[in-house]
Amino acid sequence: MNIFEIKNFSVNVEGKEIIKDFSLSIKAGEVHAIMGKNGSGKTTLSMSLMGHPAYDVTSGQVFLSGEDITDLDTEEKARKGLFLGMQHPVAIPGVSVGNFLRTALKNVWGDKVPVTEIRKRIKDEAQKMKIPAEFLSRSLNDGFSGGEKKKLETLQLSLLAPKFAIMDETDSGLDIDALKSVAEKIHSLRSPERGFLIITHYQRILNYVKPDYVHVMINGKIVKSGGPELALVLESEGYEGMSPVKNEGAKA
Ligand SMILES: Nc1ncnc2c1ncn2[C@@H]1O[C@H](COP(=O)(O)OP(=O)(O)O)[C@@H](O)[C@H]1O
Ligand SMILES: [Mg+2]
Repeated sequence: MNIFEIKNFSVNVEGKEIIKDFSLSIKAGEVHAIMGKNGSGKTTLSMSLMGHPAYDVTSGQVFLSGEDITDLDTEEKARKGLFLGMQHPVAIPGVSVGNFLRTALKNVWGDKVPVTEIRKRIKDEAQKMKIPAEFLSRSLNDGFSGGEKKKLETLQLSLLAPKFAIMDETDSGLDIDALKSVAEKIHSLRSPERGFLIITHYQRILNYVKPDYVHVMINGKIVKSGGPELALVLESEGYEGMSPVKNEGAKA
């Protein structure tokens, strides 16, 4: 069964078409990677899939476990089990990490999990991930290093244990130890009931979270798909020559 399906999805940003008739199916248990250089539309795709209002979806549908979630708002999508690890998480001075996490978890879990239990789960998971307790009382992403931001995204991922997670450049700006710990956490969450879309610029995170399929994205479209070996080809040969699809309107 497809845990996540994107069908003929097109997205405009500021009146310009950035995602172009994009389709992708991911089966439960699979990890797919999208690789593409800066500006190819990876973040636009992930933000619009999650339902960010700044992105104008002009056509297409998105299915989670077979259910059409295209028109749901972000919080509803999260409740259905969709997760986005953002490339650039927002800083909110005055809102603590702990407060933010409790709100996010409460949105998804509703009244099923009492607040005291939510607090406990956050504390326990943070401890497991060797995140110091004082981290939870800091202002959300405010002055956080790249590594701290990604660690928080990963803590959130781990607590929510979503059905389908889109991770947008979770590896960018991380040193090798931080990359390893984040990637190992993602790897440990792989399961037959869960799917992942790992969006990345570089191949190295895929050494730790081995994808079933790799897709190359150029100009808002997948131009090539293959197995994990495709990531290695890209690493050695770059994105040049990867574009068999002529882009109407684009200069040669
Ligand atoms: N908020 C925005 N306003 C204007 N243009 C945008 C905005 N977000 C993205 N774009 C444009 O969309 C294209 C794709 O950007 P993005 O999705 O961030 O690519 P990637 O994540 O692959 O680097 C770029 O040309 C970028 O300039
Ligand atoms: Mg991006």
